[in-house]
Amino acid sequence: MSKLWSGRFSETTHELTDELNASIDFDKRLYFFDIVGSQAHAEMLARQGIIPVDDAKKIVEGLDAICADIEQGKFEFSRADEDIHMAIEAELTARIGEAGKRLHTARSRNDQVAVDFRMYIRQEGSEVIALILDFILTLTNVAETHIGSVMPAYTHLQRAQPATLAHYLLAYCSMLTRDVTRLENCLDRLNESPLGAGALAGTTHDIDRFMTASLLGFRGPMINSLDAVSDRDFALELLSDLSILAMHLSRYAEEIVIWNSHEFRFVEMADAFSTGSSIMPQKKNPDLAELARGKTGRVYGDLIALLTVMKGLPLAYNKDMQEDKEPVFDALDTVKLVLKVINEMTATMKINAARMKKAAQEGFITATDMADYLVRRGLAFRESYTVVGQLVKYCIDSEKTFETLTLEEYKSFSEAFEDDIFAAIDLENCIAGRKSFGSPAPEFVREQLQTMRVFLREHAVTLGEEE
Ligand code: ARG
Repeated sequence: MSKLWSGRFSETTHELTDELNASIDFDKRLYFFDIVGSQAHAEMLARQGIIPVDDAKKIVEGLDAICADIEQGKFEFSRADEDIHMAIEAELTARIGEAGKRLHTARSRNDQVAVDFRMYIRQEGSEVIALILDFILTLTNVAETHIGSVMPAYTHLQRAQPATLAHYLLAYCSMLTRDVTRLENCLDRLNESPLGAGALAGTTHDIDRFMTASLLGFRGPMINSLDAVSDRDFALELLSDLSILAMHLSRYAEEIVIWNSHEFRFVEMADAFSTGSSIMPQKKNPDLAELARGKTGRVYGDLIALLTVMKGLPLAYNKDMQEDKEPVFDALDTVKLVLKVINEMTATMKINAARMKKAAQEGFITATDMADYLVRRGLAFRESYTVVGQLVKYCIDSEKTFETLTLEEYKSFSEAFEDDIFAAIDLENCIAGRKSFGSPAPEFVREQLQTMRVFLREHAVTLGEEE
């Protein structure tokens, strides 16, 4: 079959050329946006008197029919067509004749692919946002029921200070809200239309770029035609945002792997979200959390791949840029699947609050609280820090805990200790006694929960998902 661009060629292309050159195997995903982009372009051409109104009508209807066929799996994609843009245009002309040949007036595949890809990312990006919101909601719901569930928080994976499960999960919620706003920001910035930039220098036809921009839901046309066809920042921003998101999900997944271990047993994954071992009959493995962690590598890889593709390209379009699509598709598919799985896994996991509390009772986790107690009794913090350090050493040597020491033993380290030391190092009191904004004390955790609820409401509304 001869190519749409075969005019100046006398030989047909080698099959290896087609194999390397063609992108249709993957860019067929853009079909819907290619069609609506072409429809807007045709309507504009007619409105400006550049093509007959009748032809525009045939184009729009012809494209609707092609769209329906693609959706019903009745469209045959062929590598000979090279890419989705030429496949659709060739099919349109085959179906409606002359009118189809007018569609590409005042347009190039360079502005065409750029506008299609922006619309695709705009759509998929908001699906990712919706999935993050689902996950924030799940975490918020779990947190709500664990405001009083004391657990150790760690530094260096060593028990450090008491926190609560609610506070812990809300830390992830805070991270995820930044992922949402980062993506919203990216989608807002990309929402300018490259259509009408032509190959790179616009056109001699009197087109209306403002009209096509507005028909396609863009804020307006991009102001520089060269930039419009050369820019892939929007794809890179998306991949950067997805990389940070994947990193957050990976850190959470790592918590789950640790918490689900027999040594911790803070949580237990539902059977539906666990796997077994082919040799060790006793095993129930957190493979899905591990995959969520492992998939992060490919998302970073997608970002690095596209950064590398773009780094040496002179303006304007170069075929290298066809390599922008697969990394974006892969990162979107990966992150969406991981978000769905992590969300369900979290909603269905069993939480062992008693184990968490027990872990918090060991390891001198209230040492800082004890030092604070002595400060309230007049000691300088550095002095109280030393006293408590000596007490910890004494306890380790004599196999005792803070709770099992007598007041006399306390007093032998500092006269400042009184009977109320026992209440001061009680875990619940330690949490409730946290007075600083943002701490795990129930009043601040309730405030965080409230903030999340407001965030969810506001952002669901932006996505048009108001209940
Ligand atoms: N398939 C191409 C891509 O995805 C479309 C643009 C082709 N433009 C060109 N001048 N060859 O980048």
